[in-house]
Amino acid sequence: MSSEFISFLKDLLSYIKPFWKKFFLGIIFAVLVSGITGFSTWAIKPIFNFVFVEKHYEYFNFVPLFLILVFSLTGIFSLLQAYFMKAVSTGVVNLIRFHLFKKCLHIPLQKLSKHGTGQTISRVINDTAQIEPILGNSFQNIVKELLTVLVLLGVAFYQKWDLTLVALSTVPVVIIGAKILGRKTREARRLAQSATGELTQKMNEIINGIREIKIAGSYEKVIELFHKELNRFYRWSLKITKYREGSKSLVDVVTGFGGALVIGYGGYLVINNVMSPGAFLSVLTAILLIFNPVRKLARAYTGLKEAQGAWIRIQEVMNLEEEKGGIIKASPPQKGFYFEKVFFKYAPHLPFVLKDVKLFIPANQVIALVGPSGSGKTTLVSLLPRFYDPQKGTVYLDEIPLKDFDILSLRELFGIVMQEPFLFNLSIWDNLTMAKPDATKEEIIEACQLAMAHEFIEKLPKGYDTVIGEEGFSLSGGQKQRLALARVFLKKPPIIILDEATSQLDSITETAIQSALDRFKGHHTIIIIAHRLSTVKKADKIILLEKGKIINEGTHEELLIKSPLYKNLYKTFHKE
Ligand SMILES: Nc1ncnc2c1ncn2[C@@H]1O[C@H](COP(=O)(O)OP(=O)(O)OP(=O)(O)O)[C@@H](O)[C@H]1O
Ligand SMILES: [Mg+2]
Repeated sequence: MSSEFISFLKDLLSYIKPFWKKFFLGIIFAVLVSGITGFSTWAIKPIFNFVFVEKHYEYFNFVPLFLILVFSLTGIFSLLQAYFMKAVSTGVVNLIRFHLFKKCLHIPLQKLSKHGTGQTISRVINDTAQIEPILGNSFQNIVKELLTVLVLLGVAFYQKWDLTLVALSTVPVVIIGAKILGRKTREARRLAQSATGELTQKMNEIINGIREIKIAGSYEKVIELFHKELNRFYRWSLKITKYREGSKSLVDVVTGFGGALVIGYGGYLVINNVMSPGAFLSVLTAILLIFNPVRKLARAYTGLKEAQGAWIRIQEVMNLEEEKGGIIKASPPQKGFYFEKVFFKYAPHLPFVLKDVKLFIPANQVIALVGPSGSGKTTLVSLLPRFYDPQKGTVYLDEIPLKDFDILSLRELFGIVMQEPFLFNLSIWDNLTMAKPDATKEEIIEACQLAMAHEFIEKLPKGYDTVIGEEGFSLSGGQKQRLALARVFLKKPPIIILDEATSQLDSITETAIQSALDRFKGHHTIIIIAHRLSTVKKADKIILLEKGKIINEGTHEELLIKSPLYKNLYKTFHKE
């Protein structure tokens, strides 16, 4: 056993700790099961010799009763042990999931993004799903079967050790065979799993791109792709079955050989009166009973090995560094934010998307960010609540580097309306109170009225209790933005970031954004990524971004004169 495997087992044990009572009960019942199996096998000798050899036929009636009792008890105790062990394994897997989930909340966005460990995370979610049945099976079998094997061995050796040794000479074949087949099963399972992954991904892609597929009329192509994935999955699934059933058949064959050896050599001993018929039967039964548990043990062992693979990937995520901040409690801006020679890229191999940004965002003013699509506007504002950290340069709030602030208190200062706001599949009510848990009904309605959301919410069949995403209910882009805006109105944070989306700006949403500006102007810091003339004009300062660089700043009138790009942008958005 490698040291990694041992440390994996130790990790596993530490996860079992909270469930020790159930684990203990599981072990007790496992002991009972193997105890009864051992006892009944051992009892064959005295019973057989007493009833049949010594001809006490009057006790014959007890033999079937004894059998019924033994099998019933074994059945009941097996059930109980399986139940408790399953409770432990499911509990352990759930605990792992829970820790993983909590961990994901604290991993920096950069690591979670597509180019970082995004895949690892989704892999880990699959990994936990995979180890559940494996661990369940291993937990159920290891203790019970190990004890059973030991007890049966004990009985067999006690009855006739040399005969037992002869029979056991076949066991290594089972172990080696199970190991080889186990490795093949594992490999096939890995490939089948990746095939399942591809399958789900394809299915998702098809459903998400259904409009494009319908328009392009590319049914044939999609069907062909899907069919290919299905075939791959089919082949690997069959391989798994082949290897797994192969190890079962191997046991059957070897059990046959073991049985034959016992009967051959044992029968010879009985005929020559070296051994009693009872002892012979007892050893024979023990040997026949031992092979199945041996196979199950071998499988539980390979199962644990498989789980170890998954565990290593889980550990990779668990060991990712978490976001951390300083100890200074952030308070609302007095002077403002300052970007000092900031460079930022999303991943090491990607180009910088913010280059040498020097920028002052004065407190309690309205700042508009404008620039072509992809120029880095959203990225720039994402640095403020430290969704990302720059690779070079520093962002300050009131002359203190953002990294020195306690991260929660820093983020507490912000209210953000994203370009594509995210809403949870909860009721509208719950989505809103998330921003301010102690909000009263009046406050919420007032915020929604300001955000021009109240009216459409009222018209929904269940009003504020409508659950987003339920029964096909969904909101338009503009409606989502207005709800997100209502959240901001409710929280009234000192810093408000509005990432206007060009595509989703209907005139109602525009009015809502105007009311935000009017209400918060002067005593809140407002950073708005603007496309609309009305919003841009109201800004105290406009910052013009192009290809990650700040190329100009000033008021609307100044920029119209100073910057041809601004003039151009302004014209494309405001043809009127
Ligand atoms: N999560 C991400 N991972 C990698 N690259 C990204 C990511 N988000 C944005 N980018 C890249 O960074 C650059 C700037 O993107 P950003 O979203 O900041 O632009 P934008 O000015 O907000 O554009 P738009 O007006 O279309 O919203 C783009 O080239 C984009 O491809
Ligand atoms: Mg953007």
